[in-house]
Amino acid sequence: MNDLAGKHIVLGLTGGIACYKAAELCRALLKEGATVQVVMTAAAEQFITPVTMQALSQRTVYGSQWDPRAPNNMLHINLSREADAILIAPCSADFMARLLHGRADDLLGLMCLARPLDTVPLLIAPAMNREMWAHPATQRNMAQLIADGTTIFGVGSGDQACGETGDGRMLEPQELLDDVIAFFQPKTLTGQHVLVTAGPTYEAIDPVRGITNLSSGKMGFAMARAAREAGAEVTLVAGPVSLATPRGVGRVDVRSALDMLQAVQEKAATATVFIATAAVADWRPAHATDHKIKKDGSGSAPNLSFVENPDILAAMAQSPRGQSQALYCVGFAAESHDLLANAQAKRLRKGAPLLVGNIGPATFGQDDNALLLVDALGVKDMGRASKLVLARKLIAEIAARIKPRDKK
Ligand code: CTP
Repeated sequence: MNDLAGKHIVLGLTGGIACYKAAELCRALLKEGATVQVVMTAAAEQFITPVTMQALSQRTVYGSQWDPRAPNNMLHINLSREADAILIAPCSADFMARLLHGRADDLLGLMCLARPLDTVPLLIAPAMNREMWAHPATQRNMAQLIADGTTIFGVGSGDQACGETGDGRMLEPQELLDDVIAFFQPKTLTGQHVLVTAGPTYEAIDPVRGITNLSSGKMGFAMARAAREAGAEVTLVAGPVSLATPRGVGRVDVRSALDMLQAVQEKAATATVFIATAAVADWRPAHATDHKIKKDGSGSAPNLSFVENPDILAAMAQSPRGQSQALYCVGFAAESHDLLANAQAKRLRKGAPLLVGNIGPATFGQDDNALLLVDALGVKDMGRASKLVLARKLIAEIAARIKPRDKK
């Protein structure tokens, strides 16, 4: 992926042991296609050398506002004007306090003050001891920095370099990378609560076996991530899959279709968009036994009977909130043939305003997919791409469709 292609990031390092993570972050930003200009405070140079950061970023690292190498001797202007964002990671308690007061006594502080407020956002990843983080002065500074338009990526929790345990660690490089990528996505779903189902369900036959399907959950997790990137509050109801929860997404793990229905019904009361990507098992065994079914020696298989599972998407789409589109319902259709005809028929049968068709066997477990959008106005071919790219496009399509609803 090249989610940061064309972006130029000024990566500011301030004094803190988390500087070692900034090296990894720099690499991660470059891998996503960004160019990175590193600027370090004198305190940061106590923790990691400019040589390391220069080698990783492939650019001269600057530290002093008196550096004579800039022909006009105005590094703070030159470097801030070309940036798409200034990211300070780690941002020490001291640097937060300095930012708050608009101090301009070193190059990084100068740049933050001199940056054009409207076009060069300031993103900070605080890192400090838990007592420093919890101190009213730091919390006060944070509130004021947010009020001044700074984006604060929050802190991690756990073991600290000082030996204490608590809040204040810098987020991990991968988490910060995801947050930076999300920052640049259009915020088309701010104020929405998006509920997503994902993965297969597992229908128990007995305590040791059951029936399920090959859905990996990747499309649903990509939808949840894209909705969160677009600014929505997101709840992901996931069947049994081993995927990491996207940043900032609330997750409810379930096993069977009945569990999934119950979780969805609870969350749907406050949701404004429902996206059903789960491959819900169509049937479950009529009787799940609480002991393992043994071979009886006759050579014949047990006589299993099945009952149909409730249709979660249809239940939501045909509920009063679904019908009024206060809960805008989006279904996925996994087909093996006649995609368009089957998707159109399925949309009408389920009562969902928007249905997304894909060929099941070609997508299960894969990282890419090809989608066909079907709604009351017609059909749109979204082509083939990675699931995350398609998910972002689909979120934009959904946002455009709920706009008239929210204008009323
Ligand atoms: N779905 C659901 N609950 C079910 C079955 C399906 O919520 N019990 C949802 C899926 O999450 C998907 C859509 O309905 O959004 C279509 O699922 P699909 O498996 O393609 O369709 P089925 O309803 O199972 O129809 P068929 O087996 O006839 O293709």
